[in-house]
Amino acid sequence: MSRADAPVSGETVDWDALAALAREAMLRAYAPYSRFPVGAAALLEDGRTVSGCNVENASYGLTLCAECTLVGQIQLTGGGRIRAFACVDGNGDALMPCGRCRQLLYEFRAPGMQLMTTRGVRTMDEVLPDAFGPENLETD
Ligand code: THU
Repeated sequence: MSRADAPVSGETVDWDALAALAREAMLRAYAPYSRFPVGAAALLEDGRTVSGCNVENASYGLTLCAECTLVGQIQLTGGGRIRAFACVDGNGDALMPCGRCRQLLYEFRAPGMQLMTTRGVRTMDEVLPDAFGPENLETD
């Protein structure tokens, strides 16, 4: 992605650029069973962007959602925290992350993380209220 296309300028997230990255990822989905391709993209705190697509399996329950491959990319490319996230369906329209994936995203959230949703931009806390997270495992 060139500098001009970067999904952030100053403090403002360029949601169009992030959605475009998610759509590009969606085109790489492996979804022969559901025929429901999904793409996801995230802007990390350090300015990096990562993306993911769903990868299905003949053993249906083993399907990886787009968010699964995205969080793998975060870790694989140096780790970090998500500042902004977008997910799209096969038409390129905003798609709500499934319940499990909200939890996956929560783990890697930056404070105030925002998501592009079907009802506009929402915070992670709005999308997964009263979440269980790493802080619950702290014993002292
Ligand atoms: N899917 C995702 O990739 N992310 C979601 O948050 C919702 C569902 C995928 C899984 C499966 O490959 C297809 O969409 C249909 O459920």
